[in-house]
Amino acid sequence: MSKGTYYVTTPIYYPSDKLHIGHAYTTVAADTIAKYKAMQGYETMFLTGSDEHGQKIQRKALEAGKEPKEYVDEIVASFKALWQKLGIDYDYFIRTTEERHIKVVQAIFQKLYDQGDIYKGKYEGWYCTPCETFWTDRQVAEQEEKLCPDCGREIEWVEEESYFFRLSKYADRLLQHIKDNPAFIQPETRRNEMVSFIESGLEDLSVSRTTFDWGIPVPFDPDHVIYVWIDALSNYITAIGYETEEENFQKYWPADLHLVGKDILRFHTIIWPIVLMALDLPLPKQVFGHGWLLTKTGKMSKSKGNVVDPVVLIEDFGVDAIRYYLLREVAFGADGAYSTEALIQRINSDLANDLGNLLNRTISMVNKYFGGVIPAAGPEEEVDLDLKNSASLMLAKVEENMEALKYTVALEELWTFIRRSNKYIDQTTPWILARDEEQKERLATVLYNLVEALRIIAGTLKPFMVKTPYLMGEQLGIEDLIRETKWEDLKVWGQVKAGVKVKQGDPIFPRIDLEEYFAEVEKRKEKQAPGEKETAKGKETETVKEKDLISYDEFSKVEIRVAEVLEAEKIEGSNKLLKLQVDLGTEKRQLVAGIGQHYQGEDLIGKKILMVANLQPAKIFGVESNGMILAASNDEGKLVITTVDQDISNGSRVK
Ligand code: ME8
Ligand code: MG
Repeated sequence: MSKGTYYVTTPIYYPSDKLHIGHAYTTVAADTIAKYKAMQGYETMFLTGSDEHGQKIQRKALEAGKEPKEYVDEIVASFKALWQKLGIDYDYFIRTTEERHIKVVQAIFQKLYDQGDIYKGKYEGWYCTPCETFWTDRQVAEQEEKLCPDCGREIEWVEEESYFFRLSKYADRLLQHIKDNPAFIQPETRRNEMVSFIESGLEDLSVSRTTFDWGIPVPFDPDHVIYVWIDALSNYITAIGYETEEENFQKYWPADLHLVGKDILRFHTIIWPIVLMALDLPLPKQVFGHGWLLTKTGKMSKSKGNVVDPVVLIEDFGVDAIRYYLLREVAFGADGAYSTEALIQRINSDLANDLGNLLNRTISMVNKYFGGVIPAAGPEEEVDLDLKNSASLMLAKVEENMEALKYTVALEELWTFIRRSNKYIDQTTPWILARDEEQKERLATVLYNLVEALRIIAGTLKPFMVKTPYLMGEQLGIEDLIRETKWEDLKVWGQVKAGVKVKQGDPIFPRIDLEEYFAEVEKRKEKQAPGEKETAKGKETETVKEKDLISYDEFSKVEIRVAEVLEAEKIEGSNKLLKLQVDLGTEKRQLVAGIGQHYQGEDLIGKKILMVANLQPAKIFGVESNGMILAASNDEGKLVITTVDQDISNGSRVK
């Protein structure tokens, strides 16, 4: 039954901060391919973990007033919690601080030293601390300012004794390997970049440090710690038992796939293969470098404050909507933008509309026409055959695209089939069949086929989603069947047994109102504003009353000012929101106001309005808002803005 093994890895992430949506992206992609291969009958090994050594982490721990190990323990716990929320089924989580890893990394270093591939020398060059990367004078010299060629931050000149790894010795062999194995580096454009990099000449790599000590000591020279990338990359073999569990190691190595972001492709396609060559081990079959997930304000970073927290998204939209969005929105390999608007759009159109409706309509009809019991199918007609054929075609295309890690296309193919199944309802018009007792058997066939189509859809979704296939199964009365479904079972039509009872449930993907969602997010932010506390609703109502009153001090924190509207225009795609530019006396401000159903932009220009001037900035519908206009509204839905009784200078404070 086993088709062999399939070993896939993610990068081991730095536990220097919480993970963001970019890390979730790689891990969800790896998890999906692992689940898919397991469904196909491979014995899968899916590895992820944490890369815990290095100067940056040592510094971070120091800043937090903690021991490095204590510091990383907490963050690693948050990694595991996130993976659990995302339904990630890793087989092993490797930490580079674990005993076995440390021992084997030391053995690797020793071996390379003993055979002359590592030698002691002196290092002079530029060092980028955040990247933990050394740069040669040549690499830096091209620029006027001495900045890291990779991240553009400041670098420092360092001189230190160091061990070096003879990368250059293996360059030709590596080039040959890349040429002979076109699948080795993917996507292809990135392979070409790597080839030119190697052809431009590899210098020996500094693989030890004496400037900090949070790392694995060089076994024969404990003043040195082993360079974090040699330590980190080795995780892919230490985790499966290199030098410790030979049988398991032989079973899974070489890895089928190292999945990484393009930022670290070079480490994985140059340093890592050369280490493996020096150890006389086979190279991984493929290293795939996917693109960046960007936000509208560019690359995510803490300092820009544009980091998207996957935990919040999971809480708001559910794990499967996030997994679907990550895999569906951006062609795997290319860069792409994350946006909450696009996520909500996907949920409403693909998940609620296409998928949710198909399930709902089918179950309603089984209830209405067959008392909730799935009927047996009768003779087959042309349109039924076409539905069946579409299912086989879809499965073949999903397979083809999953082999190439084209998740986006695989999902598109599945959705083509989902829409085709919705169309089958329109073609067969069950509601008309139901009027004629003689058509009962035909009606039964149509509904049976719809349930079958949904079984295949739910089964095909299993690698991509972690709850939905089983929720669909539950509503269709075939949860166990879905759970046990292997990939090959999807290819055989007619697995659902007639006589099973369906169970109408809640919609699997409720529609989300974009504007309500953003308004909700704003409310949350207001609640979190510093100095404001959430009112604790005590049990005794008298005390609640008291708590609802605010002190003068609290009131005076709200800075209400007069502002003159200079410009006002509708925000595209929204009918409630206007974007205003106002004059606050000392400065101009942009704000977003939810008054678009009551005011035209031009009615507001020149008006002196009242606004809260010290509200935390927020993004509404992708537009920056720095303040809030005050307006009165009543129960009938009337809304009027507040203005001043007489003219007064812009910026005047209202008390
Ligand atoms: O580099 N878009 O760890 P790291 C897409 N410890 N993917 C992103 C991303 C984004 N905006 N941001 C991060 C390290 N990633 C080393 C790895 S492996 C032996 C050692 C993903 O915590 C992407 O996979 O900086 C990227 O390669 C990885 O996170 C970097 O994680
Ligand atoms: Mg990084």
